[in-house]
Amino acid sequence: MIDKLRDIYDPDFVREVFDRCSGKYIAFSLICSFGFTERWRRQCVEALPTPAGKAPTGYDLMAGTGEVWPHLLRRFPQIDAITAVDISPGMHRRALDRLHAMRAHRIRFIEDDLFASRLPPESADFIVSTFGLKTFNSDQHRRLAKLIAQVLKPGGVFSMIEASDPKGWWLRPVYRLHLLVVLPLIERLFLRGAQDFTMIGAYTSNFSDASGLARMLEEAGLEVSYRRFFFGCATAVSGRRPLA
Ligand SMILES: C[S@@+](CC[C@H](N)C(=O)[O-])C[C@H]1O[C@@H](n2cnc3c(N)ncnc32)[C@H](O)[C@@H]1O
Repeated sequence: MIDKLRDIYDPDFVREVFDRCSGKYIAFSLICSFGFTERWRRQCVEALPTPAGKAPTGYDLMAGTGEVWPHLLRRFPQIDAITAVDISPGMHRRALDRLHAMRAHRIRFIEDDLFASRLPPESADFIVSTFGLKTFNSDQHRRLAKLIAQVLKPGGVFSMIEASDPKGWWLRPVYRLHLLVVLPLIERLFLRGAQDFTMIGAYTSNFSDASGLARMLEEAGLEVSYRRFFFGCATAVSGRRPLA
C-alpha cells in the first residue's frame, strides 16, 4: 500500500516503487500505453540533434530497463558509449538481462540517485531521457536543468520526453480515466502487488507537461525546443548547449 505520510519525490521512495515494478515494467508500459511508449521513445530520439564527433558518448538519464537504446543506436550507429544512470537496482538488473552481445560493450552503468552521481562537467556529447521526468518535483526539475547544462559539452545535444496531461484535448477525460482509474484497477485485479503502477499514474498526473522544464533549461543557458505528441499525451524538450 502507498504510505501517505512519505514524500513521493524522495529518491528512496521512488527507488522502492521502481524496484517493486521492475519485473513487470516493460510489459505493463507497452500494453497499458497501447504501444505509445515505444513510439514516443523513437520520437524522442528523432528529436535529438545529431551529436558531434565520430564516436560520441553520452548519458541515458533515468534509464530504467534501457528501452531507448535500440532507437538511439539505430539512429546514431556512430555512438561509442551510453552511460545509463538509474537509482533502482531492480531496473538496472533488468537492463543488464536485456543487453545482448551487439550492444553490451557500448553500455556502462551508474546505479545511483542522479543528483548524487557526480557526473563530470562537460562530459557528454548527448543526453537522453525517456519517461524519467515525472518522479521529480519542480525543485528537482530545476536541479536537473542545471545538471544537464553543466554535464553537456559546448555544442552537446539533449532530448527528453515524458507522458503528460493533454490539456484542452476533448478526449482528455478518457485519458485521465485510463490513467487514474483503469490502470490502478488492472494492477489491483491482475498484479495484486503494492500500488506501484498506480503511483506512476499519480506522478504523470502531477507532472502536467514539460513546458516548465523547457523554461528552466533555457534559464540554464540551453537552446530548447518544446514539442507535444499525440494531442499532448506526451511532451518533449530537446536542444543543445551553445558553443560559446
Ligand atoms: C518510468 S521509468 C523510465 C525508464 C526508461 N527510461 C523507459 O524509457 O522506460 C523511470 C526511471 O527513473 C528512475 N529514477 C527515478 N528517480 C531517479 C533518480 N533520482 N536518479 C536516478 N534514476 C531515477 C527509476 O528508477 C526508473 O527506472
